[in-house]
Amino acid sequence: MINNKFSLGFFPTPFQPLKKLSEKYADYNLFIKRDDHTGLASGGNKTRKLEYLIQDAINKGCDTIITAGAQQSNHCRQTIAACAVANLECHLMLGGEAPEQYNGNLLLSSLLGAHIHFTGENRKGEDSEVLKERLEKKGKKCYVIPIGGSNNVGALGFTYAVKELKEQLSEQDLHMDYIFFASSSGATQAGLLLGIELFDLKTELIPINIDKEHTNGLSLDEVVLNLVNGGKKILNIKKEYTLKDTVVNKDYDKSGYAVLTENEKFAINELAKTEAILLDPVYTGRAFYGMLDYLKKKKLKQNSNVLFWHTGGLPALFSYPDVLK
Ligand SMILES: Cc1ncc(COP(=O)(O)O)c(C=O)c1O
Repeated sequence: MINNKFSLGFFPTPFQPLKKLSEKYADYNLFIKRDDHTGLASGGNKTRKLEYLIQDAINKGCDTIITAGAQQSNHCRQTIAACAVANLECHLMLGGEAPEQYNGNLLLSSLLGAHIHFTGENRKGEDSEVLKERLEKKGKKCYVIPIGGSNNVGALGFTYAVKELKEQLSEQDLHMDYIFFASSSGATQAGLLLGIELFDLKTELIPINIDKEHTNGLSLDEVVLNLVNGGKKILNIKKEYTLKDTVVNKDYDKSGYAVLTENEKFAINELAKTEAILLDPVYTGRAFYGMLDYLKKKKLKQNSNVLFWHTGGLPALFSYPDVLK
């Protein structure tokens, strides 16, 4: 299964220095990995996960995908895009009530042909099994993808992303001391953790927590540990992991999920105006702010190489006009 994936994106994604920003934060050399350029209806980290998930669904003979998220879910937008390409029916269970007008990711999900179900307070797939039963009574064979595509199959996308980055670094004879990224449903982090072990990339991961609400009573650290322990069996990794390995930084999530504060605004404007790179208001804006805060407070080794892994999310920006300062 490991090498069996459905090709959906543009890889390797660009790896580039942030030259102007590195001049501003002069103690550090800043770089970015552009998973906002993975393709699949406007890019994002889910392309990597969906290459494995969609292939798994096809291998299991499924014809219908069910997944869930918030109305501005990037994961849902990319899942329907993948389904359009792979000829699968796609049902999205989105939190809240139907808005009068669709915008951002919701507009794109609808444009791409998703069957959209609004699920009120439930934005984490709580109702997936009920929908699955209903559709299977009508003869469909359903494959349920958890929120964010975060299971052991999805995580493989980020395990192999480490190999891609390692090759880019070796070409330029570079080493990254730290990698910052947004962590929310856990498989990006779990995949990267397994990848750095499997491909022996010496670096420190600094995941920034996005959503302070816990899933199924588990902290994100625990969710990631479970994913890592499942994934290491598939990949035959011997290392023993504990919660110390899966710590997520929770200093920047206090305003709550998808709430745009001065922090995200600052980060989004800073990167847009120095490097002309667009962050999103929910995930990368928050994580990039976290990284800038580390830099400002000089929490990292002087002169170190710091990578921000851009995980996409551009369409959500169009539903946040308040982002202008
Ligand atoms: C743009 C963006 N960045 C980061 C994440 C977090 O990735 P993960 O859910 O794998 O933790 C998500 C999705 O949840 C996302 O849409």
